[in-house]
Amino acid sequence: MQRVATTWRRGEIRVGLVPTMGYLHAGHLSLIKQARRAVGKRGKVILSIYVNPTQFAPSEDFSRYPRDLRRDLRLCRHEGVDVVFTPSDKDMYPADPDNAFSTYVVEERLSSRMEGASRRTHFRGVTTVVAKLFNIVQPDVAVFGAKDYQQAGIIKRMVRDLNFPIRIIVAPTVREADGLAMSSRNKYLEGDLRTNALILNRTLKQIQRSIRRKPFAATRLKRQVRSRMNETPGVRLDYVEFFDPETLEPVSLVKRGAHAAIAAFVGKTRLIDNVRI
Ligand code: PAJ
Repeated sequence: MQRVATTWRRGEIRVGLVPTMGYLHAGHLSLIKQARRAVGKRGKVILSIYVNPTQFAPSEDFSRYPRDLRRDLRLCRHEGVDVVFTPSDKDMYPADPDNAFSTYVVEERLSSRMEGASRRTHFRGVTTVVAKLFNIVQPDVAVFGAKDYQQAGIIKRMVRDLNFPIRIIVAPTVREADGLAMSSRNKYLEGDLRTNALILNRTLKQIQRSIRRKPFAATRLKRQVRSRMNETPGVRLDYVEFFDPETLEPVSLVKRGAHAAIAAFVGKTRLIDNVRI
């Protein structure tokens, strides 16, 4: 892959990268379209599929994370992806204990809150694998989804801080017709849980409506959200946070233009969603 990337660079062919963990859905496909738009017809769009073990805690769903490479490849062909890069664990993380992988990329400011507070080593795994993918593929642009808003912000910060010559595009969240943010993990939602999962987006929309009338203190909104969410059967709020969309710093007074993010367990499945207020 690295050699191909170098040849493309020499030929001044623009390269767009879409990093994913596979089990593709319409959200991922929208990123492919953005990448194509960014690099043009002559450019190359690369989609990587790699379920990255270092971003999962031991208690999380790494081993049962949904995988279907054949279907993913079919979708990529249909979307006109030029290369699907599917590295193995051995390619990414040498396993030999004497020579084991020991260098990580850690973003230290934005990574400790929200997803980072609930999933301690998550962002270290994300920044490390994305930095590796950037070095291997050497893209001109890389596309990430606003669905993982904090992740996109951290990647932008990493690119700036470590001087990766890569433009980061953040594409809007793609949703099901009923508002549920598309996610590979939605596959876990069986029976009533699929309906109960709508509470995330509904709550965010309700916040948007209230704030349109007047600003609210974040503490008060958080209390309301917690009780509303936890009243829904099978749902347990992990966190709700209000923050500046650029800096990701929390705000104490929630006004229009702020950003809201929610994480909740629906049954055993952990879902996230966010909106601009
Ligand atoms: P994954 O969850 O597969 O998501 C890959 C990309 O698709 C991410 O940028 C994510 O934000 C975006 N995405 C997911 N659902 C979306 C939706 N409904 N609408 C728009 N975009 C959506 O995020 C990861 O993988 C990994 O952490 C990764 C960056 C690949 C590093 O391992």
